Amino acid sequence: MESPFKADALKGKVALVTGGGSGIGFEISTQFGLHGAAVAIMGRRKHVIDAAVGALQARGIRVVGLEGDVRKREDAGRVVEETIKNFGRLDILVNCAAGNFLASPEDLSPNAFRTVLDIDSVGTYTMSYEALKYLKNGGPGKGPSDGGIILNISATLHYTAAWYQIHVSAAKAAVDATTRGLALEWGSDYNIRVNGIAPGPIADTPGMSKLAPEEMKGEHRDNTPLYRFGEKWDIAMAAVYLASDAGKNVNGTTLVVDGGLWLSHPRY
Ligand code: HXC
Repeated sequence: MESPFKADALKGKVALVTGGGSGIGFEISTQFGLHGAAVAIMGRRKHVIDAAVGALQARGIRVVGLEGDVRKREDAGRVVEETIKNFGRLDILVNCAAGNFLASPEDLSPNAFRTVLDIDSVGTYTMSYEALKYLKNGGPGKGPSDGGIILNISATLHYTAAWYQIHVSAAKAAVDATTRGLALEWGSDYNIRVNGIAPGPIADTPGMSKLAPEEMKGEHRDNTPLYRFGEKWDIAMAAVYLASDAGKNVNGTTLVVDGGLWLSHPRY
């Protein structure tokens, strides 16, 4: 589907997208690139990153692939520095790297619980912490286009409770709290806007194939007010909106892009 935004909406900006090699992260990287940004994509698997870089270059996007694990502080720091080395600046950090699997609490070891918090919650904080010195170059008191942007990809699981995803629910609750805390403090101090996006089930993503067995898919779709699954494109368009000047007064919010699914429950 064609973007409703102008092709230069992110012109001159440099974005770093964790988990940018596949799924939602890849689509955000693609759309940022098509709207004028240069993009660094970070991921753990070299072959995934290499394939993503090739696909983006084929569409004329300035891109670099950087191997790294958001759980390792040294990787986070190195990837931020390599982004600067390649593109000279950093304007937008997208924390999209996530870990997930279905497990009931009695089958979920404390280490398994911690692993997902390490990736989603601590990883989001670590990347933001390492990126701060470049994101704050906009500085307080400058125009809305000057400050840095952080976008944290979250979920809606923790708004209520979700079967077999207690670890992810806890992790995303921490991500949302981090979004608000950084929006308050870094918004005030450095003109950095920090927002989140909470997708519902999105077709053709690693998350969907891991988390939604075939038999669940019809039920999810039937319970969605708009009666369809989301597309990666929907999340990427929300990201373009929040990262562009269109979102210049949005700070500390997590935009739910789920067709209304989390509100939904059986009619009777
Ligand atoms: C129970 C499990 C498990 C499972 C792993 N563990 N898989 N426990 N059920 N299916 C346990 C392990 O036994 C171990 O605990 C601990 O978790 C760490 O596992 P490792 O394999 O050593 O970890 P690692 O290799 O680092 O892999 C991390 C991972 C993996 C999260 C487990 O799935 C991963 O790398 N995922 C990244 C890609 C991904 O999942 N993308 C989808 C994101 S979708 P013990 O106690 O044995 O040591 C998404 C959507 C969220 O996030 C929103 C939904 C609506």
